[in-house]
Amino acid sequence: MKATVCCIVAVVPLTSRPWRRIRPASADDAAGIVSVLGAVAGERVHSAIDRAWTIDQERRYLKSLSPREIVHVAVDERSEIVGLQILDRWSTLESMAHVGQLGTFVLAAERRRGVGHQLRNATLPFARQAGYRKLVIQVRSGNAPAQAFYQGIGFRECGRLGRQVVIDGQEDDELLMELFL
Ligand SMILES: CC(C)(COP(=O)(O)OP(=O)(O)OC[C@H]1O[C@@H](n2cnc3c(N)ncnc32)[C@H](O)[C@@H]1OP(=O)(O)O)[C@@H](O)C(=O)NCCC(=O)NCCS
Repeated sequence: MKATVCCIVAVVPLTSRPWRRIRPASADDAAGIVSVLGAVAGERVHSAIDRAWTIDQERRYLKSLSPREIVHVAVDERSEIVGLQILDRWSTLESMAHVGQLGTFVLAAERRRGVGHQLRNATLPFARQAGYRKLVIQVRSGNAPAQAFYQGIGFRECGRLGRQVVIDGQEDDELLMELFL
């Protein structure tokens, strides 16, 4: 009698996208957030942030957020923060209470694996529920990946601030992008 060989074939996508857990940050996340922001600032080319706040400054900021403001963090299987998205008010003026500003930061090793979209999926519903009717971001003009990311989630370019950022002697414009919710 012939032996029957049975094999189970698992279909694994070629581009594996590990699912990161998204949750609101608390003041206890200050160190993890500073670590991500410090790494992005250290790359020098993506953000106008040239150095991260201290952990104490970040903790104070997190504690200062109003119920309409939030930082979402993406955490890996070891509960380490690998990315974050900040939503806060564009201005304290009541006339602009409907406008939020967004910032998104993902560690280099985690980029283009869907983390930014996962963060968006948490933050945009929060923004709508919190009464924002539009979101605005400022993106360095040299940061094509971030512009592509924001365009992909519905932002459109609406202005440019010339020579707005100088880091290590290098000038960069900043693009303004907006999304009506
Ligand atoms: C911009 C950023 C937040 C995007 O997050 P992410 O987790 O990489 O984004 P996602 O994987 O969810 O989405 C990827 C999409 O964004 C766009 N994108 C991201 N990186 C890109 C790149 N290097 N080139 C072209 N498009 C890119 C594409 O539309 C891409 O979709 P695709 O992979 O199907 O082509 C992340 O790259 C980052 O943190 N960069 C450094 C910090 C920064 O620039 N922050 C923005 C400051 S305003």
